[in-house]
Amino acid sequence: MNRLFTEAESADIVIERLDGCDDPRFREVMEAAIRHLHAFVKEVEPTVEEWSRAIRFLTATGQMCDDRRQEWVLASDVLGVSMLVETLNNRSEGGATEATVLGPFHVEGAPQLGPGGNICRDGKGMPCLVSGRVTDGEGRPLAGVSLDIWQTNADGFYDVQQPEQQPEMNLRGRFLTDADGRYSFRTVRPVSYPVPTDGPVGDILERMGRHAWRPAHIHFIASKPGYRRLVTHIFAHDDPYIDSDAVFGVKESLLVEFRECGDGALARELGVEVPFCTTEFDIRLVRED
Ligand code: BEZ
Ligand code: FE
Repeated sequence: MNRLFTEAESADIVIERLDGCDDPRFREVMEAAIRHLHAFVKEVEPTVEEWSRAIRFLTATGQMCDDRRQEWVLASDVLGVSMLVETLNNRSEGGATEATVLGPFHVEGAPQLGPGGNICRDGKGMPCLVSGRVTDGEGRPLAGVSLDIWQTNADGFYDVQQPEQQPEMNLRGRFLTDADGRYSFRTVRPVSYPVPTDGPVGDILERMGRHAWRPAHIHFIASKPGYRRLVTHIFAHDDPYIDSDAVFGVKESLLVEFRECGDGALARELGVEVPFCTTEFDIRLVRED
């Protein structure tokens, strides 16, 4: 006979009902979830009204999700859980470049461009040249690495947030490293921007007394068969939000300097207007186990 519910043993009594579960990993996960959830409720002792408010928050978060908007990912991001999962799964063994959050704005199928190709299609912002080299764990150049790049436009919005105002695939592109592992592309200087705040996650950020801003960054996914896929960003080291990223994505090793340049002759050679800026970022990929 099953034990009847008591406050003192509430978690154990619920966990005992997992006896019919034949998936060991699922059982382990559910057992921990039940244990922590009961401990949380015992610590907080919510009123019935507070608990029903929590349920309304969870419901609204789900209802906000569609093909373009993932409010649950955002909730996980602003609570630092996405970064924790990312960090646990990408402990920097073998000197690989550090990973950070994917975020909700990656789109498959960005245009494939040649070396130095321009991903900016709306003509706004300060031109920026990004270049670097991809190597393996031993520092040998890696040719044929695919780099999937995306960022907001100079107004701080992704193309998918402004389908009426921005050209499709604005500030998105894919590049391949050359025989020497080198890559380069043209974009615009990234700007800081707020994560979406018009949903339930925006409400809890405000109630927690937190801002919604992310420091200026460019997203990268570096991949090559046989190597561990790297999801990361580069961040402007002097951004005012660098130590208060709303989603905790910043790592010291991912800071770069966007250096402003007013050299007209160099600008003509590179085919950009002055002023423009440049930055470099080298990437190290390690072999997949
Ligand atoms: C982003 O950088 O695109 C992002 C990451 C997490 C939440 C919202 C946006
Ligand atoms: Fe972003």
